[in-house]
Amino acid sequence: MLNCRVVITRLASPLGCFQAARASTASAAQADTAPPKRQRPAKFEADGQSFVTDDKWNLSPAVIKLMERRLLQEQKNPLTLLKQRIVNHFHGKYRKPGGRSPLYAVCEQEPRVVSTFANFDSLLTPIDHVSRRSSDTYYVNEGHCLRAHTSAHQHKLMTQGLDNFLVVGDVYRRDEIDATHYPCFHQMEAVRLYSADELYQTRAGEELAVFEEIPDAERKPGKQERHTVDAVKALEIRLKSTLEDLSDALFGPECEKRWVDAYFPFTHPSYELEVKYEGKWLEVLGCGIMEQKLLESAGVTDKVGWAFGIGLERIAMVLYGVPDIRLFWSRDSGFLSQFEGLKPEDDVKYKPISAHPQVLFDISFWLPAGVAFDDMRADVCDVIRGAGGELIEQVKLSDEFENKKKGKNSQTYRIVYRSNEKALSKEEVNVVHKSIERELVEKFGVTMR
Ligand code: PHE
Repeated sequence: MLNCRVVITRLASPLGCFQAARASTASAAQADTAPPKRQRPAKFEADGQSFVTDDKWNLSPAVIKLMERRLLQEQKNPLTLLKQRIVNHFHGKYRKPGGRSPLYAVCEQEPRVVSTFANFDSLLTPIDHVSRRSSDTYYVNEGHCLRAHTSAHQHKLMTQGLDNFLVVGDVYRRDEIDATHYPCFHQMEAVRLYSADELYQTRAGEELAVFEEIPDAERKPGKQERHTVDAVKALEIRLKSTLEDLSDALFGPECEKRWVDAYFPFTHPSYELEVKYEGKWLEVLGCGIMEQKLLESAGVTDKVGWAFGIGLERIAMVLYGVPDIRLFWSRDSGFLSQFEGLKPEDDVKYKPISAHPQVLFDISFWLPAGVAFDDMRADVCDVIRGAGGELIEQVKLSDEFENKKKGKNSQTYRIVYRSNEKALSKEEVNVVHKSIERELVEKFGVTMR
């Protein structure tokens, strides 16, 4: 298992290529070599949509498999806990006037195959931007790809009339492979739009403009041509305080953070938030003032807004101390059981599991007369821990029932044995298992079944 400190120093961008250089256009054209000829299906179906494929198709069988998994629907996955924690934070803090309902709509069911318009054009991504390359994006056909970021839904959701929303889901990139990059990862996006009155909290009669009157106002490093200086300042303060509050809620207010200038095609100005983790600055999200052109094309003519996108894996790795991104995909109960039954707000640190295989044994017995189920469970766990020591990874009560006819109670436990040092054989586990059974019979008077 990789040492956490070492891994953190290698953490690269969680957001990948969208904030990457505007300047890399020359090499972009060269590097976009013809996609490798792959076996491709005539049709591809996903999330209730069907697409006819063409030569642009570059999905690998492995990435299709990842699409089928749906980690955010698994209750035990730490990413699900984190998603819920962030949603709870937003619902708790931001309410519609009157306070009865949450301000942000949560969109979790957006289809993962999106048009290239949604993924790139609507977001004003330059035609020669690196992110459009076949080597960076999974294409289903010329006009459709797997969403490479949750920003791909901004335009459609605004067009549908949503002003304030969170979008969460799995996104796909043909990226490098290391401890922090995986072809599929998860993002949480937020968009918040304001009318002038909402932004400035003005009272009747007061007026402050969000748009420049001058028709040929200039774009500057600090602002877009259409925005007034006041609007940008107000938006920046609201955006940054929203994210600083979120960071405090996740990492604690004592965690150091800093803002860094950034570039995204769909926001200006743009920023990244970094937090100090184990002595190193770590980038956790990208955000900015939304391009007015994007809002206008989605039919929003009288509002301004901000947006942010968070890489969930990146935050979960820090929050739960998970050293390798592949672990989120583990089906190993040694990993998943550490997050089972937790509330989203619970603080938990992951304890590395052994790389050696598990050995499973069950134990079933009748309880002695008059012993309550709960008392028995506590004693059983003590005995197992005592006799099995370091070889015990998990103990689960898998069945419990009362046999009315016989007037007896039964319990069954599943014990997961695993060593940190070596692969255990069934025979050696059996020796330990038998000693547990013996102790339960001798000390507590249970009858093995
Ligand atoms: N979509 C960007 C990325 O994946 C992050 C982002 C979202 C930046 C919203 C600004 C606003 O890199």
